[in-house]
Amino acid sequence: LKTLLMLSFTAIVLSACGKENLTALDPKGYGAEKSMDIMILSIVIMTAVFIIVAIIFTIAVVRFREKKGREDYIPKQVEGNHTLEIVWTAIPIVLVFVLAIPTIITIFDLADTAEAESSIKVEVTGNQYWWHFDYKGEEIQTSQDLYVPVGKKVYLDIQSSDVIHSFWVPTISGKMDANPENVNTMFIEAYEEGVYWGKCAELCGPSHSLMDFKVVAVSQDEFDQWVEDMKNVNPEEKPQDAVASEGQDLFEANNCMACHAIGSSPVAVGPNLTNYANRTAVAGILEPTKENLVDWIMDPESIKPGNKMTGNYPEVSRDEAEKIAEYLMQLDHSDVNPESAGGI
Ligand code: CUA
Repeated sequence: LKTLLMLSFTAIVLSACGKENLTALDPKGYGAEKSMDIMILSIVIMTAVFIIVAIIFTIAVVRFREKKGREDYIPKQVEGNHTLEIVWTAIPIVLVFVLAIPTIITIFDLADTAEAESSIKVEVTGNQYWWHFDYKGEEIQTSQDLYVPVGKKVYLDIQSSDVIHSFWVPTISGKMDANPENVNTMFIEAYEEGVYWGKCAELCGPSHSLMDFKVVAVSQDEFDQWVEDMKNVNPEEKPQDAVASEGQDLFEANNCMACHAIGSSPVAVGPNLTNYANRTAVAGILEPTKENLVDWIMDPESIKPGNKMTGNYPEVSRDEAEKIAEYLMQLDHSDVNPESAGGI
């Protein structure tokens, strides 16, 4: 049954987007697995109810249809049947309990914070239209790609800097709203190494559907290495390359740092650009190529309508944008990258 469900639904999901690890129907994490169990339970119950009702309905239609020669026949008139009424009231009540009990147990299970104190904690902030990640106690700030160790619960404090968003990585976890005025908590746990697609799951503006991010699940050793690398980022570091060096000067001259930090600075008006060379995407949605980054710098509005970068920095020429892109594309702060997790 599970295979059948997966085949039919995965076909729909894949035909819609063609992205790997963007499905709730092939769970590779704790929350997604629990959600899948509940989905299967409710689909089994619904299917059984549908089949039984359809059979009774078909029998009634066939058996009591108008027959030749007895057009005036009126069947026996029944008013009230206590046994029948008790049965059709009791069955739905039992079904509601069968659905509700595992659902409530799962809700409490997924809200369990018993291991929160000893686990990795990340403050997640949704912004129109990108995600900021602040590793508590580590002085690591990053955006868009959330690195986690495989097989470990990672606790997330989820909030928003503007409107309501929703954090959702379908293959490994359920959804959690990111609200401007309160913090919601959840944990995620990936069972397998991999790059998992995340989506904003709450309509938040014109580029809501483009507010993608990734969870990069790597081995514990690689994660430790990544943490070490990220803690030792020197934002002042000069690139070797002459073009990139010019790009760095332009980056500073155009005041890009008013919004974008490199390193552990808490500035987060725009995405933190540390380790940009290893990003899985440009602006969350485009292939991570220099050309796409140049296009983004030149005209972000055409790529993500309503984003806050548009109009908030001086116009740069294509030549200047290429130099800035070169600089960003050389911000390679760790050997642990999406390829370590098996690529996208
Ligand atoms: Cu953020 Cu939809």
